[in-house]
Amino acid sequence: MKSSTQVGIVGAGPAGLLLSHLLHRAGIDSVIVEVRERAYVEQRIRAGVLEQGTVDILEETGLGERMHRQGLLHHGIFLRFGGRSRRIDFNELAGKSVMVYGQHEVVKDLIAARLAAGGDIRFGASEVEVEGVTTARPSIRFRDADGVAQEIACDYIAGCDGFHGICRPLIPSDVLRIYERVYPFSWLGILAESPPVSEELIYTNHERGFALVSMRSPTISRLYLQCSAGDDVAEWSDERFWNELRARLGGEDVPDVVEGPVLQKGITPMRSFVAEPMRWGSLFLAGDAAHIVPPTGAKGMNLAVSDVRVLAAAFAEHYANGSDAGLDAYSETCLRRVWKTQRFSWWMTSMLHRFPERSEFDARLQLGELDYVTSSHAAAQTLAENYVGLPMN
Ligand code: FAD
Ligand code: PHB
Repeated sequence: MKSSTQVGIVGAGPAGLLLSHLLHRAGIDSVIVEVRERAYVEQRIRAGVLEQGTVDILEETGLGERMHRQGLLHHGIFLRFGGRSRRIDFNELAGKSVMVYGQHEVVKDLIAARLAAGGDIRFGASEVEVEGVTTARPSIRFRDADGVAQEIACDYIAGCDGFHGICRPLIPSDVLRIYERVYPFSWLGILAESPPVSEELIYTNHERGFALVSMRSPTISRLYLQCSAGDDVAEWSDERFWNELRARLGGEDVPDVVEGPVLQKGITPMRSFVAEPMRWGSLFLAGDAAHIVPPTGAKGMNLAVSDVRVLAAAFAEHYANGSDAGLDAYSETCLRRVWKTQRFSWWMTSMLHRFPERSEFDARLQLGELDYVTSSHAAAQTLAENYVGLPMN
């Protein structure tokens, strides 16, 4: 079956869904094609911290109600090292806060809003192919959930299909430049039915490796441990996880870890990755399709949001008055913020993790840096300003 739309969107993650929502508000038609089922996308546990700019855009576009009811406003974080916690106060240092609200909740809100507004999301698609991105009429071909072949002719394609998607490889290899760093460790994350270990997040640098305590609600904890890059989740029993977490949180004023049933457990590799340019012909990449940050700075989803904000504004300008200035500047505009965010995420990762090849000198440098960041107003402010989010593009 053939159909058409203005912007064809590949992927119903935060990037694709928010783009479709923003385009709708600007009177621009879009269709989202997603390989997964709706329930899968809505239950996928990933990021949890929204920058103030992300909160603002969700709120301004009618998505704030449940977020404000269920999200947890955080005014600071703790950095824990040498067995002691020191607080970074975002309100005092940067005049802003962050919101702890799971990515899957944002995704649920976005899907509900799109469907309520008559939005077209094709979940459960297969054999997705994008064609003609250097022609005037690109298209998305796929089989729908019933196995029926579909073809959607588009003015533009938004590649919001994540790191393993099909859109980025459409950019010819002699045009696409990849900048990448793979870290020699991963994050083991659990979701547990247990009260948060602390009211605010604790990022811990410990001899045995990094640990992070976060949360999703007053009864659900989200907890992470640095593990070896090759670790299999089967090697990490619940008991081993809790024991290791306690060991890494050891020292003075030990945070109160209350064990509870583990609802979900997974390992995430750590990578810094940027693909340039983010536009090729009528294809625009956004979010993880174009860049990956290690999660230590809590930036992945926020960066996806800032990309699509720029892209939606550029499409609005194009359709409203025929100007392509925003579309032509899209890649450059986004990449400026992407690289600053890459820098922050790399820095937090470097400061807080145990690198396998590190020397005693490196370990002391990390502690010196943490001491500086938590005792110098200027250094703490740098961290706070980045954590709450640099200005949107
Ligand atoms: P995605 O959320 O990846 O969405 C892409 C969508 O495209 C998916 O729904 C996918 O099914 C779909 N898709 C893929 N291929 C196709 C295709 N061929 N056709 C159609 N659809 C397709 N960040 C944090 O800050 N903290 C975390 O704890 C954290 N944990 C993470 C854990 C994992 C396993 C991953 C992968 C990422 C994590 N992130 C985390 C990063 C953050 O979740 C991402 O930055 C965010 O999801 C980016 O949104 P996106 O819409 O660009 O991509
Ligand atoms: C989370 O709650 O999932 C989370 C919080 C902070 C991070 C990464 C993940 O830096």
